[in-house]
Amino acid sequence: MADKYFTHKGVLFPSVGYFPEDLSYVENEFQVRDNDVFNVTYPKSGTSWMLEILSLIRCDGDPGWARSVLNWERAPWVENHLGLDIALKYPPPRLLCSHLPVQLFPKSLQRSKAKIIYTLRCPKDILVSLYHFSKLLRLFKTPGSLDSFLEDFLSGNVAFGSWFDHVTGWMGLKGNENFFSITYEELQEDPRGSVRRICHFLGKELSEEQVAAVVENASFQRMRGNKMANFSQMWDEFMDHEKGEFLRKGICGDWRNHLSEAQSQRFDAVYQEQMQDLGMTFPWD
Ligand code: A3P
Repeated sequence: MADKYFTHKGVLFPSVGYFPEDLSYVENEFQVRDNDVFNVTYPKSGTSWMLEILSLIRCDGDPGWARSVLNWERAPWVENHLGLDIALKYPPPRLLCSHLPVQLFPKSLQRSKAKIIYTLRCPKDILVSLYHFSKLLRLFKTPGSLDSFLEDFLSGNVAFGSWFDHVTGWMGLKGNENFFSITYEELQEDPRGSVRRICHFLGKELSEEQVAAVVENASFQRMRGNKMANFSQMWDEFMDHEKGEFLRKGICGDWRNHLSEAQSQRFDAVYQEQMQDLGMTFPWD
């Protein structure tokens, strides 16, 4: 573990591409701007899908930008070294991504009108997606058995920490006019309605044709075929492209194909305990 991750304020981060100094800078000195839009997620919740949707909304559904510029340049992750560098040079209005838990997010958010879009996903599907992704992303610890990975996930012993802490922390902002939350499941169930709601939150109204173009160009198949969105251009040093694809299945409920009854029950027990105080229900409940 020690070689793959370091701990910053109780949260694990990959040792490659992330630095404690950057994380402190981002938390304490990074200046959030009023016209920033942040795509915030726990890993594997649909970050890149939302990134694509936001890129396309910005261009009124036209796929030109999304097909010609790498997604991590269109919306850099502020917490990693490369992303921070891009974010600091990004001409406003910025589109930014982050997996940071709320307590490590730039403090200057509180003084700004920046918009946060927080995407959640069924945590059992995240577990399965993360398990597979951890085999190809060289920055993450290669997982052993699903049983041991399940325990790591439930205890937050994974990169970016506990899913439970991430979700309960960020959902504390619900009700704030600059905070919008949506689930991966809602995006799947009603993509056009979801895009319309996102547009409304952003104060950008698109025509029905433009909304349809956003949905179509951000579909799983289109993204899979777009080398600017499918991470095929990610350096081999970071990702082992032989081991699988970033856009793996793109469905809801895949956990049923992977978790045993005992693993599912173990998950449910921890879920009930950790989520009971939040008082919210989600599509996967
Ligand atoms: P699976 O591994 O279950 O297929 P993130 O971008 O947060 O890392 O999340 C990656 C997950 O979102 C992967 O899930 C990926 O396939 C899925 N995904 C990415 N783009 C998608 C899209 N357009 N439609 C549906 N799922 C998508």
